[in-house]
Amino acid sequence: MAKIAVLGSGAGSNFQALVGVLGDEIALVISDQPDAGILEKAEAFGIPTVLEQGGADLSARILSHLDGFDLICLAGFMRLVKEPLLGAFPDRILNVHPSLLPKYPGKAAWEQALVDGAEKTGCTVHFVDAGVDTGEVILQAEVPVLSGDNAGILHERIQQAEHRIYPEAVRLVLERLKHVE
Ligand code: GAR
Repeated sequence: MAKIAVLGSGAGSNFQALVGVLGDEIALVISDQPDAGILEKAEAFGIPTVLEQGGADLSARILSHLDGFDLICLAGFMRLVKEPLLGAFPDRILNVHPSLLPKYPGKAAWEQALVDGAEKTGCTVHFVDAGVDTGEVILQAEVPVLSGDNAGILHERIQQAEHRIYPEAVRLVLERLKHVE
């Protein structure tokens, strides 16, 4: 059984979708926000939680909790992952982003799509590298932008697609890891 840590700063809906499919494989939740919904959700599932707030050595402090873990899933984690965490988990840190990367990297990608007048956007699960939303793509799903959409409605439609492809992408990566080990 794989041991997966989820890092998040927000409501935790992607975390919930991951737990729904991967169950006990999700063994730890780390957040940088004391009031994040993801912490409350983790506690409700009986999954251990850790709070590590910002600061220069955040990645090192996060790494100190991850002995024996196979994979890290960023799920709405609004901080850059840096060394020494990146190097300790090569091709083992995943992120979900609310656009069809390389379009609309960074914050509030659904708003960027609306401002751009895009007819479609979507979501991407990708490996994390040192850049901002630049790592290798694992899976993507398209989502239409509909007339009358506002930021909230569009983000919700994108999140439904995220909840579908994120667990699927994690399964894919775990299968690949089985074949290299
Ligand atoms: C998700 O939509 C995720 O794609 C986005 O934050 C939301 C977190 O929601 N992440 C980013 O924008 C990262 N650049 P959740 O806490 O309900 O999973």
